[in-house]
Amino acid sequence: MTEIFNAIKASAIRIRYAIENDDTGYSHNQNATGDVQLKLDIKSDFIIEEEFSKISTVKELASEEKEHVKPMHKNGKYLIGYDPLDGSSLADVNLSVGSIFGIYEDDYRGCNLKASVYVVYGPRVEIVIGYDGRVELHRLDADHEFHFIQLINLDNKGKLNSPGGTQKNWLPHHKEMIESIFADGYRLRYSGGMVPDLHQILLKGGGLFSYPATSDVPKGKLRMTFEVFPFAQIYELAGGQAIDGKQRLLDMTPEHIHDTTPCFFGSNEEIERVKLAYGN
Ligand code: AHG
Repeated sequence: MTEIFNAIKASAIRIRYAIENDDTGYSHNQNATGDVQLKLDIKSDFIIEEEFSKISTVKELASEEKEHVKPMHKNGKYLIGYDPLDGSSLADVNLSVGSIFGIYEDDYRGCNLKASVYVVYGPRVEIVIGYDGRVELHRLDADHEFHFIQLINLDNKGKLNSPGGTQKNWLPHHKEMIESIFADGYRLRYSGGMVPDLHQILLKGGGLFSYPATSDVPKGKLRMTFEVFPFAQIYELAGGQAIDGKQRLLDMTPEHIHDTTPCFFGSNEEIERVKLAYGN
């Protein structure tokens, strides 16, 4: 696993350089979900594939930017589901973006996730690793090395609310729940990038991030394999919870690697509120 974490760190340094120096415009290609790919999406995917190709324990890659899985090393043990540059459309307005990785064994079910990692490219580059019962924060220093900073643990209740999805398409029970959370004094924090939004909640002690089912996207927007399961594991390891409204996200099985799901990540009190609002 250390080799895999090191490959992620090496790709993060290269992707950071691309974000700072490359064209942030669109390419002429679409990914499997029909999103037009940015040149930075394609470049980040290429960098990650190149770094993982050097690691013999990596059996297969599933990227948000590739329609099909990509075989790597036949005798490898791990399957890696990743979003090379999440929130990439925020790069041209200079907001934070991220890379997300789930390291699986056997298949891409939530229960087979062995470790999760994300990288935040913000004013500083940080990497968060959920593995072996804990969540660690590391930061890139001027010497181009990542250094351990601290363990991350959520409080039982937070103060931040990050409500995703198009508001006019929220379902009535969801709208009511979000309004009642704000009525209780929670503050809005939503950049439109799940990596910095979820990172903020983790580091400020707690709160709620939601990307619900809406009338236009009944299965939500965020993808299980590349985005949702890795953050679900990190939130659980940090002492919080991650559900789809009713069930635990890590108990879910995607039928296809690009499947999406409604999702709620948060500290315990906020997730208990979601369960009540969603009829549990
Ligand atoms: P993408 O990588 O395709 O830009 O998607 C980003 C994701 C996620 O990071 C964020 O939480 C969500 O899309 C934002 O979606 P909305 O624009 O619908 O709020």
